[in-house]
Amino acid sequence: MREEAKVVVFCCNWSVYPGLQLSHSAAPTGAKGLVDPIVTMCSGRVSPELILEAFSQGAWGVLVAGCPPEECEHNGNYKARRRVLLLQNLLAQMGIEPQRVRFESFSTGESAKLGQTIRGFVEEMRGLGPIE
Ligand code: FES
Repeated sequence: MREEAKVVVFCCNWSVYPGLQLSHSAAPTGAKGLVDPIVTMCSGRVSPELILEAFSQGAWGVLVAGCPPEECEHNGNYKARRRVLLLQNLLAQMGIEPQRVRFESFSTGESAKLGQTIRGFVEEMRGLGPIE
């Protein structure tokens, strides 16, 4: 039997989590995989260590979902985007596909875009499989 893709989604409480709540489900997207949403008060609080810990715990991919550029009051989304770029470079140097970590931004109410993005990410991770 084929193993399900395991994906962690760090969700900003202000822009992303409302969309998840609207769906009334922990895995709202219809994605074929195990989607584990973790709510954070700002994407800037998602440290590289947390992302690497998710991978060490078996995640196939990690999506950091934050507010759009002008909507984060702490500029945390800029930090998160930069951190993800650094981690992508680090993963590539380790021989791991850099697309396993991604930053995306969503406005409140973009639950359709959120679901579509998560479904696409899960499908991409299913194509890659687990990290060897
Ligand atoms: Fe949402 Fe910072 S408050 S990313």
